[in-house]
Amino acid sequence: MSNVTVVGAQWGDEGKGKIVDWLANEADIVVRFQGGNNAGHTIVVNKKKIALSLIPSGIIRKNKLSIIGNGVVVNPLALLDEISRLNKVGVKITRKNLRISENSSIIFSFHKKIDEIREKRKGPNKIGTTGRGIGPAYEDRVGRRAIRFADLANDNFLKEKIKNTLDYHNIILAGLKSQLITEKEIFDEVSSYKKSILRYVDRIFPILKKAKNEGKKILFEGAQGILLDVDHGTYPFVTSSNTLPSAAASGTGMPLKNLGYILGIVKAYTTRVGSGPFPSELKNKIGEKLGRIGNEFGTVTGRQRRCGWFDAIITKHSIDISGIDGIALTKLDVLDSFEEIKICVGYRVNGKVINYFPLSEIDQKKIKPIYEIHQGWRENTQGAKTWSDLPALAIKYVRRIEELLQTQVSLLSTSPKREDTILVKNPFLG
Ligand code: GDP
Ligand code: IMO
Ligand code: MG
Repeated sequence: MSNVTVVGAQWGDEGKGKIVDWLANEADIVVRFQGGNNAGHTIVVNKKKIALSLIPSGIIRKNKLSIIGNGVVVNPLALLDEISRLNKVGVKITRKNLRISENSSIIFSFHKKIDEIREKRKGPNKIGTTGRGIGPAYEDRVGRRAIRFADLANDNFLKEKIKNTLDYHNIILAGLKSQLITEKEIFDEVSSYKKSILRYVDRIFPILKKAKNEGKKILFEGAQGILLDVDHGTYPFVTSSNTLPSAAASGTGMPLKNLGYILGIVKAYTTRVGSGPFPSELKNKIGEKLGRIGNEFGTVTGRQRRCGWFDAIITKHSIDISGIDGIALTKLDVLDSFEEIKICVGYRVNGKVINYFPLSEIDQKKIKPIYEIHQGWRENTQGAKTWSDLPALAIKYVRRIEELLQTQVSLLSTSPKREDTILVKNPFLG
């Protein structure tokens, strides 16, 4: 039996939440390892829609432990709000099913404020962040001035930490002629949630080590997607964390060799939210149709997602750098009514044909996609539960994706519902 690490293989919103919830049935522990409440996952169980952001997507399953790892930046107020929303729909959250790593960094209200100010100043060149303070919080972490949950236990120590962090931020806010932040404001902010949040805080890596020794199955849940990785994504239009599978080791304390099967989640077409290159984007009626049928609106910000055809070149880039063992292909059903379906199989840049994603931002702006055209199946695949329920042309499309990505489809998702999932190869079997 193997562990499984789930990552998005495009620009996020591939349907990771649905697949993690499905796989969680077999797991003992589900751990989030990076990102924060910029992530938004929608899960549909018994016709009920549940939106998750910080809490691992295994929380809905009974008798599973959900862990927020040290690689996650946590906004405690957003987390408490999520806990209360889950409690209201009957998912009880206690220390029995949720733990937070004591060395996770905290997102404060000033991180959100700084995120918003910076985006506003950039005007048309903005990154299009989710405005949740993710970037500023990660900057504090690598700048060695972040405040972590372990720092909350002692008031005097916490006051020193707050002073140290604000020394840095207030210099910048003064330069921006923005209102400065007081130490009291931040101390009071912490006091408002401290007691409610500390009950979940724990030492995480001993829990994972013990589980591993007992042969328990651990599911590592990535947020965002490989193309939003701060090193290997479409920089600078990326998030501020590493979204690669290796972040599951640094973001939890689990040794790299124990991450198990790497499952990439791939949408049958392409979407992205925010700014940045998107070679196969369709700014026309077809793009609008994909968005309408696929319900492509952000779970977190409600923003309309940009839509386009499946891009085999950029997705292969993700597969190659993240060592993906197999994929879960999602949202095939969204293509059901299309007469013609295109796949981007090459790029033309400066008159030259290339079969890789160029890293130069200038070249990225010049990419013209080269497409191959597939005949649409124009039959219903929504809700298909076995491979034999699929029309021949849909199978041909899936096989072509496998061929272009040089990987195998392990799972196929045919609707937002948990049960509408076809298992081809169980990732827990390695
Ligand atoms: P995540 O961020 O990767 O977890 O993805 P999101 O939840 O933000 O976005 C994926 C959306 O697609 C959600 O609304 C899901 O309910 C929905 N979804 C997931 N799989 C499928 C599928 O196979 N077909 C359809 N039609 N919708 C799906
Ligand atoms: P899930 O987990 C899609 C995008 C933002 C923006 C960029 C930087 O639901 O797939 P940030 O707030 O992280 O500094 O924004 O990253 N982004 C996402 N896009 N899905 C996500 O998460 C995202 N999280 C961040 O839109 O372009
Ligand atoms: Mg999402």
